[in-house]
Amino acid sequence: MVKILMYSLNQIIDWLIETDPPRLQQLWQQADDVRKQQVGEAIHLRGLIEISNYCVRQCTYCGIRADNKKICRYRMAADEIHNCAHLAQNYGYGTVVLQAGEDYGIEADWLAGIIRQIKSATNLAITLSLGERHDDELRLWREAGADRYLLRFETSNRALYEAIHPNRGRTISDRIMMLRRLKSLGYETGSGVLVGIPGQSYEDLAKDILLFGELGLHMIGVGPYIAHPDTPLAQHADSMKLVSDRQVPSSDTMACKVIALARILCPGTNIPSTTALATINPKRGRMHGLTRGANVIMPNLTPSHYRSLYEIYPAKAGSHETAEVTNVKLKEQIIELGRVMGNGRGDSVCYGTQIWDDESSQARLDNLTA
Ligand code: 5AD
Repeated sequence: MVKILMYSLNQIIDWLIETDPPRLQQLWQQADDVRKQQVGEAIHLRGLIEISNYCVRQCTYCGIRADNKKICRYRMAADEIHNCAHLAQNYGYGTVVLQAGEDYGIEADWLAGIIRQIKSATNLAITLSLGERHDDELRLWREAGADRYLLRFETSNRALYEAIHPNRGRTISDRIMMLRRLKSLGYETGSGVLVGIPGQSYEDLAKDILLFGELGLHMIGVGPYIAHPDTPLAQHADSMKLVSDRQVPSSDTMACKVIALARILCPGTNIPSTTALATINPKRGRMHGLTRGANVIMPNLTPSHYRSLYEIYPAKAGSHETAEVTNVKLKEQIIELGRVMGNGRGDSVCYGTQIWDDESSQARLDNLTA
């Protein structure tokens, strides 16, 4: 077993360091074929509502970390959130994602009420992305009707994880455990990583990809790390970076390699082409993601006056647009790519089933490497 894992690990590392354009073309092609076969031509749209930028955490890479005093904090009111949900429904999206910093000002009962109201007024699926909340809160929200939860584990290298996620008092942050708990509560569960964190090696990233498979994730979101000048990580990046042949770069291509390998190894999962990818390569990033394994996009529905305040990294794609402009642009892009907009909720085809097995994933990887 260990031997097999080492074998896959080395294959994945080889792909992560691959630079030969025809070989990379093969990787993109295989990922696109698997995407087509397993989840089809539909691109599912998830309307993102950034409901609060308050955060108690100090993640050293993130612009809305608690210690960043330069940003003005906001928390959306219930009626503002409902208006965004109705907009999602009118635009024909199947899901809304309620995202925030880890904000305990978002009280569990209050949010449960919002979830119930959205569920009764629309047929939208609801995804939550609210950080490391308590078990009883997660259970309450699930019972209120929340369908999915997103929590990136960011990196599987524990030492690196701890270096960029200072503990909060005496609470130890264990996101892997929380992901398992989310699954047992019946959430469609999503996770993912940052690509190119200063201090992240190719081996770390390959282990992240193997962990996606081990956790049996229903959604996998990855994006390149983008330095935010008002964060400790950006200020101390040089001292954290590995020597250049070991350090993963935070590039469009590297993020796409992770998307492609995730698609090949976890074929039925939902994978977004992320905003970070569209930010690092404004012309082609989003399209690259969608043609190299991704099948989801997350148009931003946050009201314009809040958008620029949700600055987890600078120059976020679409941060000066309105929801209407983003909506039109993304739908045009889908048509340009010859794909179709998903109808319905776009649930993960692997929810509740074990639709991929390790042997066929390994066979696809072998086939590609041969
Ligand atoms: N660059 C890229 N992605 C970031 N995130 C947070 N800060 C940054 C950054 N500086 C990502 C994290 C988090 C998600 C909501 O946003 O991976 O899980």
